[in-house]
Amino acid sequence: MSDSDSDASIEPPTQGFADSTLTATEPPPNPLMESLKQEIDLFDKLYGKQRGFSETHGKEISRAERKREGYISTTLTYGEIKFETFAELMNILKGRHGAMKEDGGVFVDIGCGIGKPLFGAALLHKFDKIVGIEILEDLYKVCVETMQHWTRHVKPVLGEERTQDMQFSFLNNDFLIADWSDADIVFMNSTCFNRSLMIDLSAKGKALAPGTIVVTTTKRMVGPAFDLVEELQMEESWGDATVYIQKRVERS
Ligand SMILES: C[S@@+](CC[C@H](N)C(=O)[O-])C[C@H]1O[C@@H](n2cnc3c(N)ncnc32)[C@H](O)[C@@H]1O
Repeated sequence: MSDSDSDASIEPPTQGFADSTLTATEPPPNPLMESLKQEIDLFDKLYGKQRGFSETHGKEISRAERKREGYISTTLTYGEIKFETFAELMNILKGRHGAMKEDGGVFVDIGCGIGKPLFGAALLHKFDKIVGIEILEDLYKVCVETMQHWTRHVKPVLGEERTQDMQFSFLNNDFLIADWSDADIVFMNSTCFNRSLMIDLSAKGKALAPGTIVVTTTKRMVGPAFDLVEELQMEESWGDATVYIQKRVERS
C-alpha cells in the first residue's frame, strides 16, 4: 500500500448533494454539548479557524513529514478525534466506569498527533498530568506550540485554580520505548495499528496499575491482562470507529 493509499481508509466519505428535506430539521439539543459551550469554544481557539487551522491540518503535516522522511509504515497513518464525541466518551468513562470521580489523575495519549485528545482531556477534567507521546516530530511540535495558545487563551478563562497545577508533558518518542506506566486513563486511537503493534502495546501495558482504563479504537488490547468493559461507536475525523473501553486487571 502506498503512503497516500494508506490514508484512504480513514478519509471522510465524499459528501453528496444535501437533501433540503433532511437539512430543514434542526437536531434536538444535546444537554452535554449545551453544558460544554465554553469548552467547545476554547477547543476551537486551540485548533480551529481562529488559529488558522483547517480540519485536515494534522493530516497534512503528518503526510508531509512521512513523504519527506520516506516513512512508509501504515501504522503512522493519521486520523484524529472530534472534540464533541471525545467529550461524550469522557462523560461515559466518568458516569459508567468510575473514572475522574475526583480532581487529579494522569491521562496519556499513545500516538497523540497534534494533541487534540490531550488538550480536550485538559478542558474536560482537572488532571494532575497530561502526557502525549508522538513519534513524528512535526506533529509533536504542534503539541508544543499549542501549549502557548493554552496559556494565552484558555488559562485566563478557566482560571489559575483550575489550571495552575496541571502538568503537560509531550514526548517526541516511540510509545513502545517511553514510560507510560503511571497512567490512570490511556487513550489509543489505534485504528491503523497492526496486530503485532497491539501485541507489543498490550505487553507494555501490563506495567499499568490494576484498574487503569485503556481506551482503544477498532483494535482491542490483546491478552488476559485487559477486560473489555464496554464497546461503543465514536465519530472521528474519518467517520465512525468502534471504541473499546478496557480495564487493566490483576490476573497477570
Ligand atoms: C490515528 S493518529 C491519532 C492522533 C491522536 N491521538 C488523536 O486521536 O487525535 C495515531 C498517531 O500515532 C502516531 N504513532 C504511530 N506509531 C507510533 C509510535 N511507535 N510511537 C509514537 N507515536 C506513534 C502516529 O504518527 C499518529 O500521529
